[in-house]
Amino acid sequence: MQVRDAAEWAASLPLAQALREGAWLYPVVETVHIVGFAVLVGAVAMFDLRVLGFGRQLPVQALARHLLPWSAGSMLLVVPTGLLLFIADPQSLLANRVFLLKLGLILAAGLNALAFHAGPYRSAAAWSQQAPALARLHALLSLGLWIAVIACGRMLAYF
Ligand code: HEM
Repeated sequence: MQVRDAAEWAASLPLAQALREGAWLYPVVETVHIVGFAVLVGAVAMFDLRVLGFGRQLPVQALARHLLPWSAGSMLLVVPTGLLLFIADPQSLLANRVFLLKLGLILAAGLNALAFHAGPYRSAAAWSQQAPALARLHALLSLGLWIAVIACGRMLAYF
C-alpha cells in the first residue's frame, strides 16, 4: 500500500470523520496531546538543565530515576493523540514540510537521547558535580531539538 493510499484510507475512517466534524473531539484530543508533551518536554528539560549544571546539589542518577519514566510514559499520551490529530487530515499533513520536519526532529531527539544513555550517561556514577562536556552537549542539543519540535507543532496551525 502506498503512503498516499494509506492516508486516504485513514482519512475515510469514521473516527477521522468524527474528528473533523465534531465540535469537541478534536480540541479534547489536542488538549491531551498538549498535556502529554508538556510532561514529556518538561521532564526532559529539567533533567537536561541538571546535566548542564543547574541544581548541582541534586544527584543526577536519582533525578534520572524520577524524571525519565515520566517522559517515557508520557509517550503513551503523545503518540496516540498525535496519530489521531494526524488522521483528521493526513493528506495535507503529509504534504506539509513543517509536519515532516517535526517528525524528523522527534526522531533526532530520540536518537540524541539514546546516544546520551549509551554514551556519557553510562559513567554518571563517576561524574563530579560537573557533567562531562559530551554529556552537556547532548543536553544542550536535547533542549534545542525539543523546543524546535514544539515550535513546529505550533506552526502547523499556520502553514
Ligand atoms: C513527541 C513530541 C511532540 C510534541 C512536543 C508535539 C507538539 C505539538 C504542538 C506544540 C502542537 C500544537 C498544539 C496547538 O497549537 O494547539 C501539536 C499539534 C499536533 N501534533 Fe504534535 N507533538 C509531538 C508528537 C506528535 C506526533 C508523534 C504526531 C503524529 C504522529 C503529532 C501530530 C500532531 C498533529 C497532527 C497536530 C495538530 C496540528 C494542527 O493544528 O493542525 N505530534 N503537537
